[in-house]
Amino acid sequence: MRCSVLKGVGGFLPARVLTNDDLSQTLETSDEWIRRRTGIRSRHIAADGVLTSDLAVEAALRALEKAEIRPEEVDLVLVATTTPDRTFPSTATIVQGKLGLAQGMAFDISAVCSGFLYATTVADTLLQQGQATCALVIGAETFSRLLDWSDRTTAPLFGDGAGAVLLRAEEQPSPTGILASRLYADGGQWSLLYTDGGPSLNQKAGVVRMQGREVFRQAVEKMVQSLQEVLQVASVPLEEITWVIPHQANLRILEAVAERMAMPMERVLVTVDHHANTSGASIPLALEEGFASGRLAAGQTLLLTAIGAGLTWGASIIRLP
Ligand code: UT7
Repeated sequence: MRCSVLKGVGGFLPARVLTNDDLSQTLETSDEWIRRRTGIRSRHIAADGVLTSDLAVEAALRALEKAEIRPEEVDLVLVATTTPDRTFPSTATIVQGKLGLAQGMAFDISAVCSGFLYATTVADTLLQQGQATCALVIGAETFSRLLDWSDRTTAPLFGDGAGAVLLRAEEQPSPTGILASRLYADGGQWSLLYTDGGPSLNQKAGVVRMQGREVFRQAVEKMVQSLQEVLQVASVPLEEITWVIPHQANLRILEAVAERMAMPMERVLVTVDHHANTSGASIPLALEEGFASGRLAAGQTLLLTAIGAGLTWGASIIRLP
């Protein structure tokens, strides 16, 4: 059977680390409040002049190296981002150009914190249809550029970074790679989380505005719902899942999801403490850290889930080769 197999993962974080104590120098907040309410201790911030495409290229090169795949084999580049270098062209085409590639397709996916799951699902479909054979799927963000640094209710929550996966269409004797995905959106709820600018609205990028408490409530409910549905669709029992790899927004959200899924936190990958919320980059960065630390290994079955502005949300099951 033709499968979308995960061949390699790469991640890249900018060098500068901003701690909660650093933030409390300029904001009416504290390390104690941020850690207790979110689990976040620090986040990485890209230096001036470093663009989303720069982070994406670094992550992509690492994923290609891990996969032992030459860049020329890639015929699909997808970038999930909320912070594109420019309004146009897509960051994916800029990344494709920086990688020296000129074949196949390249486009961005806009689903905010769910962007990486949306992108892997689109890639899986194109690989299954035979429209592509080797996909570089990247989640990359310079989310710090969308923050109102005087707003203590949003500024401490986000960080910058990029993660990338290499998916290749391969004939396999049994289901491998992406086993199933489910994606959802409810556009009636866009005003829970948005930027107050846009090219059409006011020719600005704007900054993040969020009704945090309601997003929190929706996040727990919708992540659990999508996880249960994708398990059912794939006919995979929960006992077969080695790791849950959720979008990283708030440790309390992850704990609530784990509790409702009857999943011990020991089987949930957590990076929110040192990455904060890197939006579309959070899941591939967690995957990269999972492999680097030896927690992720061949033959395991992974359960991914995310929720983001839109609202958009979803879940996927991936079996590692
Ligand atoms: O990626 C997907 C999108 N994002 C999310 O999933 C985020 C979801 N939401 C959350 O993570 C949480 O709702 C927050 C972390 C944003 C807020 O935590 P909370 O426990 O829901 O706090 P709250 O908004 O109910 O605020 C409680 C109090 C408020 O003060 P009053 O009104 O009770 O006097 C806030 O003004 O905490 C105050 N507060 C802060 N205090 C110190 C809010 N932010 C801060 C802060 N430092 N940074």
